[in-house]
Amino acid sequence: MKKLAIIGCGGIGRYHLDHFLQFRDIELAGFCDIILERAEAFAKAAGSGQGFTDYKEMYDAVQPDMVFICIPPYAHGDIEFETIRRRIPFFVEKPVALSLDLAHEIRQRIQEAGLITASGFQCRYSNLVEPTVEFIQDHEIVFIDCVRVGGIPGTEWWKKRALSGGQIVEQTIHQFDIIRYVFGEPDTVFTMGTKGYVTDVDGYDTEDLTTTVVRFQNGALAAISTGCYASAGASADSKVTFGARDSRADLYILDKLRVFEEKQAAVEDSSLVVKGDGAMNGKGTTDTVYRQEGDSGLLCDRTFIDAVLSGDPSKIRSPYEDAVRSLAFTLACNESLDTGLPVKVNLD
Ligand SMILES: NC(=O)c1ccc[n+]([C@@H]2O[C@H](COP(=O)([O-])OP(=O)(O)OC[C@H]3O[C@@H](n4cnc5c(N)ncnc54)[C@H](O)[C@@H]3O)[C@@H](O)[C@H]2O)c1
Repeated sequence: MKKLAIIGCGGIGRYHLDHFLQFRDIELAGFCDIILERAEAFAKAAGSGQGFTDYKEMYDAVQPDMVFICIPPYAHGDIEFETIRRRIPFFVEKPVALSLDLAHEIRQRIQEAGLITASGFQCRYSNLVEPTVEFIQDHEIVFIDCVRVGGIPGTEWWKKRALSGGQIVEQTIHQFDIIRYVFGEPDTVFTMGTKGYVTDVDGYDTEDLTTTVVRFQNGALAAISTGCYASAGASADSKVTFGARDSRADLYILDKLRVFEEKQAAVEDSSLVVKGDGAMNGKGTTDTVYRQEGDSGLLCDRTFIDAVLSGDPSKIRSPYEDAVRSLAFTLACNESLDTGLPVKVNLD
């Protein structure tokens, strides 16, 4: 049986381990974390394998056939270089790095080694992707309105932008990535942020809220707002709206897709209502709802494992080189935030 190892036995590592426990055709062979108890707790939960604090020692001892790298954003670099040097196919969590130079160097070495890779953009494996793409193909999208607002995660590193990349890079990258996947590539971003609303979290230095205006290569615009100021779920309705002239689709990632389309001409019986303005939810509009089915995270992991077992990476929806482009999209926002200027996204 092929052997699988994990580096980084924290929150997302456990999420992946829970998936692996449902698979019978791979051996859970090695677990590495700089905190030994965490690695050993994973070995115990797996009922197999051994805990390590040094990934090179683990590689020497276990000789894994594939590895899941589930470390915090600031910790990327040496682990990937060593993994590539040993030609071990790897799945790496997003964001794949905090610097584009580093991500490009890793990408280059992956290409030279011809290695199978994947990254943690599990939203790409949702059954909602297909109807969203269909809607976008059938309607010319003018405007994308995206909101992701939540609270501040518990991990210490998250609170420091130098360690996490900030909320755009660390979290809302999922939204930036899915927009790229279903819609198209960005050209330019312009981001503004604000602070001072969250005053009760020690050591926190990221923005409470940012709003990014995106111009896409095809001319459409987006407004992408991301906030961690919320203390309750009622603070905002997190979703991605794809708006055409006569219809719209609201994508609630990994939850549901609602498509609103006109059945007949918009209501024109009031001189106070401009045609089409506010009529989208009104009379004459169809409202089709698609629900999330299955576990996209499980499918994402399984797809990588199957790719390694078969040697065929064609079903992987987010290989490393593509994840680098989503990183570039979000890092451009950080640059704009810092400079106060629009920034062209470097997708090369
Ligand atoms: N795909 C998703 O939806 C999703 C969800 C949550 C987190 N993530 C990503 O996963 C990554 C980790 O997040 P998390 O919430 O699991 O963090 P975490 O802090 O809970 O876990 C990270 C673990 O890595 C260990 N670690 C740090 N440096 C290491 C090193 N050099 N060698 C070995 N172990 C090391 C830490 O001790 C910790 O146990 C982040 O990049 C985050 O963005 C992705």
